Amino acid sequence: MAKIILTGDRPTGRLHIGHYVGSLRRRVELQNSGEFDKIFVMIADAQALTDNADNPEKVRQNIIEVALDYLSAGLDPEKTNIFIQSQVSELTELCFFYMNLVTVQRLQRNPTVKAEIQMRGFSESNDGSDNKAGTPVGFFCYPISQAADITAFKATCVPVGEDQEPMIEQTREIVRKFNSTYGPALVEPQILLPENAACLRLPGTDGKAKMSKSLGNCIYLSDSAEEVWAKVKSMYTDPGHLQVSDPGKVEGNTVFTYLDAFCRPEHFEMFGDCFHGKKVSFDFKSLDEVKAQYRAGGLGDMMIKNFLNAVLNDTLEPIRKRRAELEQNLPYVYEVLRKGSEVARAEAADTLAAVKRQMRINYFDEGVLDELIKEQSEKYKKAE
Ligand code: TRP
Repeated sequence: MAKIILTGDRPTGRLHIGHYVGSLRRRVELQNSGEFDKIFVMIADAQALTDNADNPEKVRQNIIEVALDYLSAGLDPEKTNIFIQSQVSELTELCFFYMNLVTVQRLQRNPTVKAEIQMRGFSESNDGSDNKAGTPVGFFCYPISQAADITAFKATCVPVGEDQEPMIEQTREIVRKFNSTYGPALVEPQILLPENAACLRLPGTDGKAKMSKSLGNCIYLSDSAEEVWAKVKSMYTDPGHLQVSDPGKVEGNTVFTYLDAFCRPEHFEMFGDCFHGKKVSFDFKSLDEVKAQYRAGGLGDMMIKNFLNAVLNDTLEPIRKRRAELEQNLPYVYEVLRKGSEVARAEAADTLAAVKRQMRINYFDEGVLDELIKEQSEKYKKAE
């Protein structure tokens, strides 16, 4: 069976380093591994609209931001098909048929939907008396639309963050239900989670559980070196680590979580200088040694923040440079999206045709109409 990847992001803002370690970096690795027959990465504007119906302009503005982030992070349009969800209308059609295979009760139990409804305050007033109160039906159903996204491309592998696990589970259920009800047409996908715990859910710079634009605790892929340093400097560490000589906590210390996600062995050779101070000086060879020293005491927050800053910029600088170039070549970026959407459409149309065939709602397909007329005519045949 062909190995196919489908994944994507909602265009509601620029991508941050949480997106990067949670999924984007992996996609680039998978892309370059040469192990996959097809790779689709989708800018999920239609899904973004499910809770931004009153602000389509925000979604529209962020399509190009996400595309720029993708390309500058290393997605290569020669290997990865990048497209815009709303331009593939077949996805909506698939979604409509899948809706009959899912119950309201099952959607209500989807933990991600539940958490998101709560986060957005949708559930506070459900009387529908104004537009704000209550959960938009489209939003409620987005797991079904996501199943359409995944199955349309016959994806076998969906690399996403941990919060998307219930979506993939729901997709697998829909696939099984479809195939057993109508006959096989859909492929059951596997989720691919980040392998490192720090990457599963990168906390915000304030130590809060999640990096999110509304909390203002993000480091963006497009931040300048100055912005990154300002954010790193003010990062949450161990509030109990008051004096440099005090023993420090590594667990729950955001600076160390970021190092777990970004630091590579070669960084100690490259940026070891960060640990050479006037009063104290260390020759660390690994992150474990840094952690041990921090726990023992004597290692100041400023030193590790300097090191983290260097480590982050080692990853971010090439991304920043490519972004600056691409920003000056928007016609190219839009052409990538236009072409990508065309290819995606053909692919999704193929699956939709198979779905309609299995559901026997392909009345006007080649040869089907003749059969249909014959079959129905039987009913009305007059006795001789
Ligand atoms: N839900 C994803 C997000 O919040 C975006 C998305 C839409 C997606 N459809 C998908 C991800 C299909 C993986 C597969 O960013």
